[in-house]
Amino acid sequence: MNKEILISPSLLSADFTQLGEDSEMINRSAADWLHMDVMDGVFVPNISFGLPVIKAVHTVCQKPLDVHMMTVHPENYIRQVADAGGALMTVHAEACTHLHRTIQEIHSAGMKAGVALNPATPLAMVEEVLSDVDLVLIMSVNPGFSGQSFITSSTDKVRRLRQMIDRLEHRPLIEVDGGVNGKTAPMLVAAGADVLVSGSYVFGAEDPEATIRSLKSRD
Ligand code: DX5
Ligand code: ZN
Repeated sequence: MNKEILISPSLLSADFTQLGEDSEMINRSAADWLHMDVMDGVFVPNISFGLPVIKAVHTVCQKPLDVHMMTVHPENYIRQVADAGGALMTVHAEACTHLHRTIQEIHSAGMKAGVALNPATPLAMVEEVLSDVDLVLIMSVNPGFSGQSFITSSTDKVRRLRQMIDRLEHRPLIEVDGGVNGKTAPMLVAAGADVLVSGSYVFGAEDPEATIRSLKSRD
């Protein structure tokens, strides 16, 4: 049997005038999580949404909230993200001076912990914490915007991370974020991805629920 692939649609591509309806669509759909991109205009050249939006969506969305922090000093917001309803909090390795401590604090706050890597950041940046995290997020675009083209070398990065993880007893999930669509998803799954984030491909589709289903089954 094929391994189950988790789908985490990215709210960044949703219609912000109807986050309630979009959350209901996610509830009805085969999505496993809802991906929420927090940006601060410093770590990335864009500003998206923050804690009040996570809190509001949490009152409607029944799926676990997969919070991707594209901010400097994410360690300052751990308690607030947990209180707002985050189930998983992913921080960028590039933004954390004391990454190991930050991972411990995310766990102490009752959330799963993820570490993200930008396209130019080598896998070695997460090697020492692989046994401590629940998830590694490989960015397959430069973070900050939805709708960008997939960086093709990301597939090989996923493959190499899969090899590193398969040697371990504790195996964090591999999540991929950026340019995931019907064409790139099968390649990423073949390379060893466990979780696919998808923004514009899902929310820009005529039938987002069918698109989520197709990503999950890769028909
Ligand atoms: C980009 C964000 C992504 C974004 C993905 O910085 O981290 O989650 O929403 O959007 P697509 O799937 O359109 O590349
Ligand atoms: Zn993201």
